[in-house]
Amino acid sequence: MTRLGLSRRAALASGLALTAAPTWAAERSLRDLAAAKGVLFGAAIEPHVVQDDPAFADLLQRHCGSLTAENAMKWNALRPTPDRFDFAAADATVAFARRQGAQVYGHALVWHEAMPAWLDEALTPRTAGALLSDHIRRVAGRYAGSVTAWDVVNEVVERNDGRRDGLRLSPWFRALGPSYIGAAFRAARQAAPRARLALADYGLEYDDERWMVEKRGTMLSLLEDLKAAGVPIHALAIQGHLDGARRPAFGAGLRRFLAQVANLGLEIYITELDVNDQKVPGNVARRDVVVADSYRAFLDVVLDEPAVRRVTTWGLTDRHTSKSGMFPRADRAGVRPLPFDAALRPKLAYQALVDAFAGAPRR
Ligand code: XIL
Repeated sequence: MTRLGLSRRAALASGLALTAAPTWAAERSLRDLAAAKGVLFGAAIEPHVVQDDPAFADLLQRHCGSLTAENAMKWNALRPTPDRFDFAAADATVAFARRQGAQVYGHALVWHEAMPAWLDEALTPRTAGALLSDHIRRVAGRYAGSVTAWDVVNEVVERNDGRRDGLRLSPWFRALGPSYIGAAFRAARQAAPRARLALADYGLEYDDERWMVEKRGTMLSLLEDLKAAGVPIHALAIQGHLDGARRPAFGAGLRRFLAQVANLGLEIYITELDVNDQKVPGNVARRDVVVADSYRAFLDVVLDEPAVRRVTTWGLTDRHTSKSGMFPRADRAGVRPLPFDAALRPKLAYQALVDAFAGAPRR
């Protein structure tokens, strides 16, 4: 029987697309399992995708307490021209989340990528301060009642850029210097006083990768400086784009880093979790084991830290994942980075999430 109560044959005969998993009713809600431990679980979505795929919308409804705008709240989506804002996709994301009863995670107010072409020219030391604060005031202000947490600045550390403080030489940095980070947080605080405000980055996850271990140190000093300067920051957002082709080296180093962040009085969010299986060899069954192992090893460590309050996967099903375009496999097989397969059936990665939440200490 399908979850519509039809036999598979009857559904096929009636022309209904059978996209939902037969095991649907037995599936435990990731939102509920996480919530029982004080963790908010969610996923990133694209509004046009969820509108066109009701079975996927049902899956989100069942599992997500929070929805992130995967692209709709980036500058290039919101700012087609210097003086026009286009809120259509962002509004649609918020409206969809509201219908689902989910919170909205905003991503991202400041980033060196996804900047509209016009901004290259418009961004000068003279104009940058106002551009930044106007944007944040308009965007964070518009969603002050609905976005409960924001990635205020995304990916600000780049040690290869050669600065002693490790800050990335982003267009915002070049125009404004290091102060742009605090300025962005203060503008967000003013526009959305109740939203949780996070600084987000990648490359903090693996214990056996030297540059990541060093980046943790850089990140800690940055967070310390921001706290000492009274910047209104509530959380570090760790993206969590994992690589299935790597050994899941999440251990004492990651634990210590998370504890150090927590000691600064900050929360920790995992905001873009997925496992890239582009280079994972083997058939689907083996790849699913490997991908699930990464989810499990990472979450077991991360959820042990009580400061971790949100876990968001970057999509929820292999049917819709930006990994397929960005990291396609050489053998042309579909990528499988997420907890549900392209037919929306739960994979071993889903079970890894279930087990990780079930085993996590309560916040
Ligand atoms: C990605 C989206 O998933 C893609 O659809 C888009 O084409 C490019 O951006 N780090 C981030 C996210 O902070 O915004 C990125 O999202 C993935 C890496």
